[in-house]
Amino acid sequence: MGRVIEGGIRLIRKDGVLKLVIAKSVEASSKQCTTDFDFQEHSAMLDESKFDVHLKLWALRIPREFCKVATKLLNGHMLDRPRIKPITEDPTSEKTRYVILSERVQNPDLSDIPTKNLDELKKLCKIETVPYSLTLGYSYWGADHVLKQILPSGLEVPSSFETIVKYSFCHIAHLNIPDELLPYKDVIAKVIYDKNYPRIQTVVNKVGSISNEFRVPQFEILAGKEEMATEVKQYGATFKMDYGLVYWNSRLEHEHIRLVNKFEKGEIICDMFAGIGPFAIPSAQKGCLVYANDLNPDSVRYLKINADINKVNHTLHAYNLDARIFISKLMQVLPVDDDMKKPKPESEKRNGEEEDMNKESNVATSESCIQAHVAVKTKGSKNKRMKTLLTFTEKSWEHIDHVIMNLPASALQFLDVFRGLIQMKYWKGSLPWIHCYCFIRSNETQESVVSEAESLLNAKIHDPLFHRVRDVAPNKAMYCLSFRLPEEACINEVS
Ligand SMILES: C[S@@+](CC[C@H](N)C(=O)[O-])C[C@H]1O[C@@H](n2cnc3c(N)ncnc32)[C@H](O)[C@@H]1O
Repeated sequence: MGRVIEGGIRLIRKDGVLKLVIAKSVEASSKQCTTDFDFQEHSAMLDESKFDVHLKLWALRIPREFCKVATKLLNGHMLDRPRIKPITEDPTSEKTRYVILSERVQNPDLSDIPTKNLDELKKLCKIETVPYSLTLGYSYWGADHVLKQILPSGLEVPSSFETIVKYSFCHIAHLNIPDELLPYKDVIAKVIYDKNYPRIQTVVNKVGSISNEFRVPQFEILAGKEEMATEVKQYGATFKMDYGLVYWNSRLEHEHIRLVNKFEKGEIICDMFAGIGPFAIPSAQKGCLVYANDLNPDSVRYLKINADINKVNHTLHAYNLDARIFISKLMQVLPVDDDMKKPKPESEKRNGEEEDMNKESNVATSESCIQAHVAVKTKGSKNKRMKTLLTFTEKSWEHIDHVIMNLPASALQFLDVFRGLIQMKYWKGSLPWIHCYCFIRSNETQESVVSEAESLLNAKIHDPLFHRVRDVAPNKAMYCLSFRLPEEACINEVS
């Protein structure tokens, strides 16, 4: 005996196979249709023929040179279905075409079409009314339509999914299937795969909530290739990644570029939680010197690959450290030979730590000047490419313009690392902007966030700026808090 789910839908077990029987109207305007949909508990099997809708229509056979004028005269009376052309080949003759009439034209005497229009057409050419059968099959219907037939009514059809687009060989659809739809996850994935192939080649579902420190979701592959290596383009930069190993969120695209737009060419950027580089790579592409760090070794591996493929490996230094250790080492004053601007011998370094820092770097630091070719327009010349020296001091303890902290769940807790971090006697120019991401729940305020940040810095923040990035839940939004590091938070003693 089958279990009644609701209305005309029954879930029955037959020969060890779960069978979902659907009996409901597929087409309001056409026939009633019964859909018998089978799926096994673990692999979705879809009987595609069950989605067929047979339309019995009328068509006009006319000489093909009159198709254009017929289209005008029969406007509003031809078949109007997405992706179906109402004018089609006549399989019996090259010289004639079929003009498929609307489902509303019921009578072969064509009395549903205004006589005036028909007479005008008849004056121009010979027309012949013929019956026309059309089957709209599984391949015709969109994912939304198919899933509405399959899922019990009352359950919301998953309408959107994050797509991770790989241009060369694979694209991933990332679903977040809610609990109530989990029994249907395989068939949902199959329909989404079928309906979006070849654009989508792998369909994955996020399992559980993200609890690991690398912020990498757990995925189960539901349809398509078992392939998570992919490639995304964002504002002219290419990012390779393994979606199963690193953090990536396409919804942050606007935020990445919003922040990078604030940076000026030649500025020095420090990204404490860089991931595979969506802030770091565009900043370097803009002509900034970038120190980018992440704790996840796979992220740093891809960060370096991405620096290479985007041709910024000469201005992007990549590190694989805990963010606190990273920024502390970056701000630690190193003895530097002023003449040569080369790091001093091992014996003069701080406990050999610099070696660790440089180990992850893509850049040979024996030279502190970076040569770049920039296009310069000079008087009397066309756009000539000139060899110009962009000089970066490489003395990170002397100046940094912006610090990015995109780990919204806990970046605020890292702010105490800035307490006494910068030594003003070595610092040149303005103190850095800190861009610290956080979540604010509906029971929290921006003031409470600022006051938490102030107590961690042990300094007052002047003119904090909040930017609402996106809503992550009904009562929770992601923000970027930007402020200039207060001088009070730095060491001010004179040597
Ligand atoms: C929310 S992701 C942001 C990544 C990147 N900035 C982006 O916008 O896509 C946070 C990143 O911080 C890294 N992370 C987590 N804890 C860290 C720590 N203690 N030190 C350094 N990186 C850390 C994670 O591996 C992850 O790549």
